[in-house]
Amino acid sequence: MNTVAANIRAADASAIADAAKILRDGGLVAFPTETVYGLGADATNDRAVAAIFAAKERPRFNPLIVHVADMEAAKRIVVFMPAARWLAERFWPGALSLLVSAGLDTVAVRVPDESIAQNLLAAAEVPIAAPSANASGEISPTTAEHVRQSLGDKVDLILDGGPTRLGLESTVIGFEHGKPVLLRPGSIPRVKIESVAGPLGHPAYDTISSPGQLASHYAPDAKVRLNALSAAPGEVLLAFGPATGATLNLSPKGDLEEAAANLFAMLRRLDAEEPRAIAVMPIPDHGLGEAINDRLRRAAAPRSLRA
Ligand code: TXA
Ligand code: MG
Repeated sequence: MNTVAANIRAADASAIADAAKILRDGGLVAFPTETVYGLGADATNDRAVAAIFAAKERPRFNPLIVHVADMEAAKRIVVFMPAARWLAERFWPGALSLLVSAGLDTVAVRVPDESIAQNLLAAAEVPIAAPSANASGEISPTTAEHVRQSLGDKVDLILDGGPTRLGLESTVIGFEHGKPVLLRPGSIPRVKIESVAGPLGHPAYDTISSPGQLASHYAPDAKVRLNALSAAPGEVLLAFGPATGATLNLSPKGDLEEAAANLFAMLRRLDAEEPRAIAVMPIPDHGLGEAINDRLRRAAAPRSLRA
């Protein structure tokens, strides 16, 4: 596993069995979920979890999401308040991470809806802590190749399941005074959650309660210019909807799901061209547009605010 590409394997049964063994032995495995690729470790092994922070160069104050197979597995490690249980029953398996209690701590948990992730959880028989499988501050990976580019041989094994279905991270929900608050918009749009939970609150601003909310994150090397109508000289144009002069188009037919699935891979491809800037056309803010625009604002934020 020393050469750079040798640690990518198609996620067949034998690769998943090997991945499970690596996890149980305290190693790191990158694997696809329906949102983005995760960098997984045995959540019950402190040294393995520490290795995630080292590989990503992630600040220690930024906690990880714990992935479990189902509600029963979740209940073995955390305690659900009624509002959290209600949301879990409605949206799991799926792209929703819930902040729940684990002893004195608060832990984000989710049940992924992706068969490779589920098969890995079943084989490993441990909860898997997994942030997105990118170096801290970079764009999240939606293919195995993105993981290799970002983390290389810091990962013991990368399970290749092809491009992820949704392409944007999970929606993260916390609770204040028993009421759900939106900590990070994501693949499940606000309206879907509000249709069962009522209006979502805003997090209190005294602390950075969810560091995915840091100003600069999900950032390419190139500058990003938002709400562009055309490309200036030296720029590339990331379009949305019918457009002329597009270098790439998130969705020519103006479909937000398609745009979400394409966003990170297209930002990476445009970044590789080393343009003066990536000019991005306006994206409507409804539905998945809220999460897409959240990621684009962070990609465009000044790098002095980068974390
Ligand atoms: O879709 C996803 O959520 C992917 C896949 C792999 O599951 N994971 C992911 O993890 O995006 P990560 O670590 O890149 O982002 C997790 C977000 C961060 O903004 C983190 O700060 C927040 O969730 N978070 C995790 N645990 C938390 C906690 N205990 N309290 C507050 N925020 C938390
Ligand atoms: Mg991340």
